[in-house]
Amino acid sequence: MTAPLLSLEGVSKTFHVRPVLGAVRRVDALRNVTFSIEPGKALALVGESGSGKSTCGRAVIRHFEPSAGTVRFRGENIFENRTRSGDRAYLRAVQMVFQDPFSSLNPTHTIRHHLERPLRLHGGTADLEARLRQTLADVELDPDTTLEKFPHQLSGGQRQRVSFARALAVGAELIVADEPTSMLDVSIRKSVLDLMRRLKEERNIAFLYITHDIATAHYIAEETAVMYAGQVMERGPSDAVIRNPRHPYSRLLISAVPDPAKRFDDADGDGLAFTRQAEAVRASAARPISGYREVAPDHFVAYSDADHD
Ligand SMILES: Nc1ncnc2c1ncn2[C@@H]1O[C@H](COP(=O)(O)OP(=O)(O)OP(=O)(O)O)[C@@H](O)[C@H]1O
Ligand SMILES: [Mg+2]
Repeated sequence: MTAPLLSLEGVSKTFHVRPVLGAVRRVDALRNVTFSIEPGKALALVGESGSGKSTCGRAVIRHFEPSAGTVRFRGENIFENRTRSGDRAYLRAVQMVFQDPFSSLNPTHTIRHHLERPLRLHGGTADLEARLRQTLADVELDPDTTLEKFPHQLSGGQRQRVSFARALAVGAELIVADEPTSMLDVSIRKSVLDLMRRLKEERNIAFLYITHDIATAHYIAEETAVMYAGQVMERGPSDAVIRNPRHPYSRLLISAVPDPAKRFDDADGDGLAFTRQAEAVRASAARPISGYREVAPDHFVAYSDADHD
């Protein structure tokens, strides 16, 4: 087994939400999250809204310090023994690509400007023009027609390619991609997913791929982790988790997929019975996990001592 590039060990994050009226509310956004990613591989985090996927991504880009647990990069705890140069190296090695490329591109700057600075920081000024053109070519954008454009002059898919180009420009080894295609037109989603696959295979870039779209998880990621209420319910090879989910919650989540027209709470058309069953599964999945059973090689399924099985 290759040494992991990134590993999370028992990572928890609690937010204290202070409403204008009423008592402070505690949100356990992450509870004991454990997984790892090898260089050049991808792990998909899937789960419904509010399950903690983005919080997990933010812990990885060091947006905040976890309330408990450790995040390691190349075996080093990213919150320990920090030096300025170590911090800079980490912030380059781990890049985030967001759902909305507009949020991370400055509307007043050209694509050239967006890429020149990171390229200079990462590799100096030598051959800058050639590297600039190459970086765009690496994400399948035509340098001649793209370099001098502003973000609003590009399509959504092209803008997202620029986000990936920026990550390449600083020499990213891990990209946290948070729903990178969900705002794109369906017809171009696949080409962006194909680009991610190429970056993995040809550049050995690892991905933490956050998505609602389980079918794409399978397309991009060797491994998939299913989250609910801040906990990882199941993780393992994508094929096994998606085709043969073992945790009742994963089954519920994945059962909603084959027919997108069906709602999550009405997946078998028998509304009421399914809704009751789904509620019971969710209530059970929200309880603290006691541990994981390895049901097949590298395929882990959560159990709770409060469960009866
Ligand atoms: N800064 C914050 N302060 C308070 N609560 C937060 C904060 N960030 C996230 N949360 C809460 O943590 C939980 C997990 O949120 P998160 O954004 O990680 O979910 P998600 O799985 O990414 O959902 P989505 O699919 O909608 O993007 C939610 O209950 C959310 O309200
Ligand atoms: Mg999110």
